[in-house]
Amino acid sequence: MGQKQLFLKACAREPVERTPVWLMRQAGRYLPEYLKVRQQAGSFLNLCKTPALATEVTLQPIRRFGLDVAIMFSDILVVPEAMGMKLDFLEGEGPVFAEPLRESRDLNRLIRPKVEKKLGYVYNAIEEMRAALPSKVPLIGFAGSPWTLATYMIEGGTTKKFTHIKTALYRDPDFLHMLLGALADTVIDYLNGQIDHGAQAIQIFDTWGGILGPKNYRAFSLDYMTKIVRNLKKTGPDGERVPVILFSKGCASYSKDIATSGCDVISLDWTADAKKIRRQLGDKVAFQGNLDPAVLYAPEEVIRKEVRKTLKSFGNKPGHIFNLGHGMEPDMNPDNVQLLVEIIREESSHLLKRNSKKR
Ligand code: CP3
Repeated sequence: MGQKQLFLKACAREPVERTPVWLMRQAGRYLPEYLKVRQQAGSFLNLCKTPALATEVTLQPIRRFGLDVAIMFSDILVVPEAMGMKLDFLEGEGPVFAEPLRESRDLNRLIRPKVEKKLGYVYNAIEEMRAALPSKVPLIGFAGSPWTLATYMIEGGTTKKFTHIKTALYRDPDFLHMLLGALADTVIDYLNGQIDHGAQAIQIFDTWGGILGPKNYRAFSLDYMTKIVRNLKKTGPDGERVPVILFSKGCASYSKDIATSGCDVISLDWTADAKKIRRQLGDKVAFQGNLDPAVLYAPEEVIRKEVRKTLKSFGNKPGHIFNLGHGMEPDMNPDNVQLLVEIIREESSHLLKRNSKKR
């Protein structure tokens, strides 16, 4: 085993010489080399299901920008598909479940999948990715939160209104809890398999946690994520700790509760006041985030100013991983990502050097 990687040090709240960085949705349509491989694959789902191609697109942003972490290329919605729901990705429309779940008896259509069999292609991809990545770049595995997966399974796709899932929440909460429980069980199996096959950290994407009020957030999202965190293997096959990152978009004000889940890292979106939250939580957990992705549309001097602000807002205690507050968009310029990564390197090494002299 070589030296512990920068990212894993930061997750463990150990001191680092510069702040590690990766970007949510770092592999994707803003990269011309990604579009080429997707075309070769024929479709997005085929790309996810072909380990050699998924490995290639996982590595693309690492090669191009020298990021500190890779995230396996896949999608959160392969889990509902493995549970028996027919999934399509339509050009310009995104994911579609043609037969969404609407009431308790629809749950009969779901199975608890044998993950090694149904999602074995993900595990094969993880092994290929690990073999291809430089040892200093750890690999993140991931899953959607039960709540976020349920929104897609009940709405049937992307929505702005969340009519069907909110109707279920207020009219038939038992149906929803049954679904969320089944999802949590499958996600636990799925993520433990990812750890067995070589994922070195896990991120849970709760993209839609923020549409819930505080009480419902706990009951319908956080409780299920907590169950997942508590049931994950704590170490990988190499004996190293596998940190868990929770990303509940729009939920920064619940950070104190989120920390009680047992997660190692809380990922914040750009609406979060990192300084305040760090002060509240002390060094109970590490944090990830939280640059507004739209800063990537701005000129260099603005990017630099915003990076400095972000680094300072997380303060000088160890335990910060630089990331965006949400994912990269297809119309973003890869040259600005290069610039962003260089600026984070420069500014964070300056800042950390200054701070270590002060101490
Ligand atoms: O680089 C990475 O971050 C790894 C790959 C990754 C993808 N999706 C690839 C993808 C990850 C971690 C995800 C997670 C995901 N998928 C989330 C949670 C994170 C978030 O962005 O909030 C959600 C909600 C999904 C569901 C999903 N997948 C949607 C709504 C869409 C269509 C809209 C969109 O953003 O493109 C997808 C498709 C998808 N997933 C693409 C990629 C690269 C685009 C597919 C293509 O056309 O090539």
